[in-house]
Amino acid sequence: MTAKRTYRIARIGGDGIGPEVVAQASRVAEAAGRAWGFDIRWTDYPFGAGHYLETGEILPESALDELASHDALLLGAIGDPAVKPGILEQGILLKLRFHFDQYVNLRPAKSLPRVPLPVKVDSVDIVVVRENTEDFYMNLGGISGGKTFRIDFEASRSAYDLTGNVSLAFDPPCRAAIQLGIATEAGVRRITEYACKTAKARNEDSIVLASKSNALSWIYGFWEDVAEDEAARHGVKCSVANVDALCYHLVRDPGRYGVILTPNMFGDIVSDLLAGIAGGLGTAAGANIGDGLSMFEPVHGSAPDIAGTGRANPVAAILSGAIMLQHLGESGAASAVEKAVEGYLSESESGDLPFEFGGTAPVSRVGEAIADRITMERSDA
Ligand code: IPM
Ligand code: MG
Repeated sequence: MTAKRTYRIARIGGDGIGPEVVAQASRVAEAAGRAWGFDIRWTDYPFGAGHYLETGEILPESALDELASHDALLLGAIGDPAVKPGILEQGILLKLRFHFDQYVNLRPAKSLPRVPLPVKVDSVDIVVVRENTEDFYMNLGGISGGKTFRIDFEASRSAYDLTGNVSLAFDPPCRAAIQLGIATEAGVRRITEYACKTAKARNEDSIVLASKSNALSWIYGFWEDVAEDEAARHGVKCSVANVDALCYHLVRDPGRYGVILTPNMFGDIVSDLLAGIAGGLGTAAGANIGDGLSMFEPVHGSAPDIAGTGRANPVAAILSGAIMLQHLGESGAASAVEKAVEGYLSESESGDLPFEFGGTAPVSRVGEAIADRITMERSDA
């Protein structure tokens, strides 16, 4: 008898509604595992606001080493009003993305049955492929007063270490801030390649790059040149749109878009816009993918206002779990999860839907209903 496939998956519930939605994503992934013949062994990590306030620890190096031995990481949400904005987001979320060189932030925006769309359109099926390690996210910057302004920089990525400084002189002296955005050729090429492969898997032969070279010519002019060249190598057409105009067209006519390639910061903004267009953050799934440990997390944040009320919608986390199963090579199980979510949304009595869609089903009931569908579907087959 061959041993059953077992995946070791690390779990960080995090803050606010994070642990609640991760519990349901786990329950659904386990149901998919039972139906498709694999086991999941979870390792839970306590990182987040509660742990930080209690112990002062954010995310220790030893945890990074331990995490590395897992097959994937499932994450809920990070961020809490009791902690100054940025500490946990940068110390946990961005730290994980950078440490494991998760250079792809994949954010599908797909409309779902009975989820109302704010824009007049039948359906939305767009995927944002966001560069996840560079741009204005490298934490290179500082604030200074006085006449001369010198900031030393240091950053480390899997492909390079970066050191240096910027010095500026202000006359008359003034307090000022600087934040540096970096794009490397290798960084742009690898994410463009991923976007091209994503387009091909959808039977599409073009991608749209969200850019802004009319105002930020150095960094985004460079992005355009490299992305166009890389896309051509893959036989994919890369059209460039300035991100402001792109947002305008996305709101008015999202149906004309497929794969949207973005630098890090524009991707952050465009993916929230698209989550809104495709029906809300309650269903927007995401993944941070690299060649090492990949991390699966919904686009939404910790929503502290509804934490503990049962009103959280776990669908985004459950669908992030589906992307995780796909990434692990369990495509049957991944499709089963997606199908169960669609079936649940289209066939449930309206009272049995999440609060967000007018129902009264608490977060655990939504998870249970979706998990049950997977189990039933498989035993019927
Ligand atoms: C996201 C979030 C993060 C980001 C924050 C919390 C640092 O907004 O995942 O989109 O900007 O990437
Ligand atoms: Mg964001």
